[in-house]
Amino acid sequence: MNTRKKVIAGNWKMNKTSAEGVALAQEIVAAVGKQGAVEVVVCPPFTAIESVGRVLEGSEVRLGAQNLHAEASGAFTGEVSAPMLRAIFATHVILGHSERRTLFGETDEGVNRKTLAALKHQLRPIVCVGETLAEREAGTTLKVVQTQLERGLEGVSREQAASVIVAYEPVWAIGTGKVATTEQAQEVHAFIRGLLVKLFGDAMAQRIRILYGGSMKPANAPELLAQKDIDGGLIGGASLEARSFLELVAAAAK
Ligand code: PGA
Repeated sequence: MNTRKKVIAGNWKMNKTSAEGVALAQEIVAAVGKQGAVEVVVCPPFTAIESVGRVLEGSEVRLGAQNLHAEASGAFTGEVSAPMLRAIFATHVILGHSERRTLFGETDEGVNRKTLAALKHQLRPIVCVGETLAEREAGTTLKVVQTQLERGLEGVSREQAASVIVAYEPVWAIGTGKVATTEQAQEVHAFIRGLLVKLFGDAMAQRIRILYGGSMKPANAPELLAQKDIDGGLIGGASLEARSFLELVAAAAK
């Protein structure tokens, strides 16, 4: 049994107005606001992040963003920085999500700059990696994941690594209802753990949480979360309703 605290992080994507986000956050706080067994994180869109943050105040539920800009301030129209997120008490930030990579042209180098900026400003980066269906079918899954992970974490020190969370999200499983089998997921998670050993040493690698993402739901979560190297979930669709999200938190607490 490892001692890594499980993480259940809700990625709301481009869903929920500020008022809707507040209502959802209130339900989550009422149900799990005081528990400390699982690290529960919600990542609202920027327009809802401050109002949701106020609902989370005084609770154990953490506030995350879905992206940031690597610079602290300046002429970057439309962007939000790490210090701005810290100022509203965000603690986590999702970086390199496959939708950012495929729809908004994010590169491993860009993800790396953002990861270093997040760490510099005491935000926990949730660094996403994962292969497309074509890459899996071509047998290049591990190579793709290795490249994304090594480039994304370049320059991260051993001390900083304790704050890093990795999310393995097979692109073909995101929002498709197609979940990776537990064997497929555990295989890649174990591979990522091995890469983290090489990067940061064994003791540190054993502390870093590796989340699974891609159609995780109450029905499939218990089996996934029981795997040795699966330390939680990055949840899209099932995080938009309190009931399913809370069931996932309960599954992670087991
Ligand atoms: P999904 O999304 O749970 O809806 O598949 C996961 C994610 O994209 O983080």
